[in-house]
Amino acid sequence: MSRSVLVTGGNRGIGLAIARAFADAGDKVAITYRSGEPPAGFLAVKCDITEPEQVEQAYKEIEEKHGPVEVLVANAGITRDQLLMRMTEEDFSAVLDTNLTGTFRVVKRANRGMLRARKGRVVLISSVVGLLGGAGQANYAASKAGLVGFARSLARELGSRNITFNVVAPGFIDTDMTRALSDEQREGILEQVPLARYGQPEEIAAAVRFLASDEAAYITGAVIPVDGGLGMGH
Ligand code: NAI
Repeated sequence: MSRSVLVTGGNRGIGLAIARAFADAGDKVAITYRSGEPPAGFLAVKCDITEPEQVEQAYKEIEEKHGPVEVLVANAGITRDQLLMRMTEEDFSAVLDTNLTGTFRVVKRANRGMLRARKGRVVLISSVVGLLGGAGQANYAASKAGLVGFARSLARELGSRNITFNVVAPGFIDTDMTRALSDEQREGILEQVPLARYGQPEEIAAAVRFLASDEAAYITGAVIPVDGGLGMGH
């Protein structure tokens, strides 16, 4: 396979594991990054998904070098945890603007080429927190739950064009994002995970790769949990 794949926020953590999984399978992989030195082996494009012009610019460069994006993995995301009482308007809108509106921006731009090609695969990285909720994470949970409605609407809108939209909902994965939690928080979380461990980024990548594969051609509008059982029933 040598498809044109884009992974947003593919420079580290879960995004990097996803980018590597596609590259290992022979795809042409572009990643976006915001700052620092991006990892080697990919077409790395600087892009902040909260800036529409940067999104447009990134797509132009990717299309020039790899052709229109055939597989989009919208992975970039942030947290800004705070109890409601202390959560500012800025804390709320910054998280929504990156996780939900940012995803809208990259999906909308990818859709142009997918419509023309009459095929496409879109995978959105949500979170178990979007379904379970999380104290201190109202902004994050709202943005991640929003991705489910977004994906399912597009699955209906664009299914007849052979474009699938699926969501992967990771549980607690060992990355910079969860390393920022206190030891007490990390232990408290583990007590609720039936598999009694954190997940690895590669375990998310495996599910994403499947959803983008030919084997998953008849799956759309699905929310696939990869969470050690944490979110069962939600
Ligand atoms: P991370 O913090 O290591 O990586 C996040 C990536 O998103 C980085 O590459 C960052 O540059 C990028 N990003 C953030 N804001 C951006 C913006 N405005 N424009 C462009 N890129 C931006 O986090 P991690 O853990 O790898 O998370 C990846 C995704 O998985 C996120 O959407 C996160 O919400 C989700 N997730 C993570 C879980 C975990 O336990 N680590 C659990 C559930 C979901």
